[in-house]
Amino acid sequence: MLDRIVQGAVPAKPHTALRSSDGALRYEECFTRQGFEGAFSMLYHLHRPHEAEPAALPRHFPAARPAAERSLARRHYRCLELPELAAPALECRLPLLFNDDVVIGFLRPKTADTAYFVNADADELFYVHTGGGSLKSPFGNLVFRSGDYVCVPRGTPYRFVPDGELEQAWLSIECKKDVGIPRHYRNAIGQLRMDAPYSHRDFRRPLLPEPSDDGIRGLVVKRNDAFSGFELCHSPLDVVGWDGTVYPFAFPILAFQPRVGQVHLPPTVHATFEAGGALICSFVPRPLDFHEAAIPCPYPHSSVHIDEVLFYANGAFGSRRGIAAGSLSHHPAGIPHGPHPGAYEDSLGQTHTSEVAVMLDCSAPLDATNTALTVEDADYHRSFQAE
Ligand SMILES: [Fe+2]
Repeated sequence: MLDRIVQGAVPAKPHTALRSSDGALRYEECFTRQGFEGAFSMLYHLHRPHEAEPAALPRHFPAARPAAERSLARRHYRCLELPELAAPALECRLPLLFNDDVVIGFLRPKTADTAYFVNADADELFYVHTGGGSLKSPFGNLVFRSGDYVCVPRGTPYRFVPDGELEQAWLSIECKKDVGIPRHYRNAIGQLRMDAPYSHRDFRRPLLPEPSDDGIRGLVVKRNDAFSGFELCHSPLDVVGWDGTVYPFAFPILAFQPRVGQVHLPPTVHATFEAGGALICSFVPRPLDFHEAAIPCPYPHSSVHIDEVLFYANGAFGSRRGIAAGSLSHHPAGIPHGPHPGAYEDSLGQTHTSEVAVMLDCSAPLDATNTALTVEDADYHRSFQAE
């Protein structure tokens, strides 16, 4: 998914013997996508990596289920009003909006995961609104901070260890059809183009420590929205080396290099990640459009194929009112949308925006869960009506 890296010891050729200094054979694990046709990594373990027994199912977050059918409307959910559960990430994730391609949720983990998690349904993308910590996986330790995206490829066994000193609030996006870098940002050999809005240097990779054992053997696997429990026979952190292009990574949203036009550019210029059925865009501080008569505020639009979701990392979003940091808005296809009353006019002459937000353009209609309804702003739809 990114450029190839190598860490620790790997043999000169794949599928050949790698031995310790005292002759012990290492066990290769090929971690492949699209069968054997796609991107891959190869890891070398102290122990056979495929040993695990069915076992009691550790506690975990729920699968997304729809609330009762209701009429189409622009919706606004206040994520920071969700109950804080004194729980690890694996248990406290709350699905809010979903379709067949994505599940958008929110979590505020308080403690380290006490079991490993494998999401076999989806690549996972987290946006760390506040907080930070470390993601532990066979690929190593990935440090993340407030304002980072954290991407975990499907199939990766991992644990989150949040920094207990920090207030944690993360947006989660399960992408069932793979998440990646938009193709048009790459050159013919897959390198990020020089005019892409980020470079390879902006991505933070896991760092592989010496093989270790945290003593944790519980494993939760999610496949087809059902959860299964396993007991690992060995620690998944027993890796002596790996190489490849598939691994968890972090990307700071403020490393995204925004585009600015003479007149307003469509939000797709802020595309950061693409997933089947969803485009994930980053709005970051930037100068605004510079034509003398430019209207910097987004024009009202009917994007007729798209359900649009916005997560607001700060409240400085010029076109919307009533939203704040932690707000999640959902503007479904079928209803034109645009700025709040007055925002279009007030934007004239503005030269800069300090907004930070994550947008998802979703191809399929999104359903809300009952959890989302508990933090819904019931007045949001009518707030677009001029008085
Ligand atoms: Fe829009």
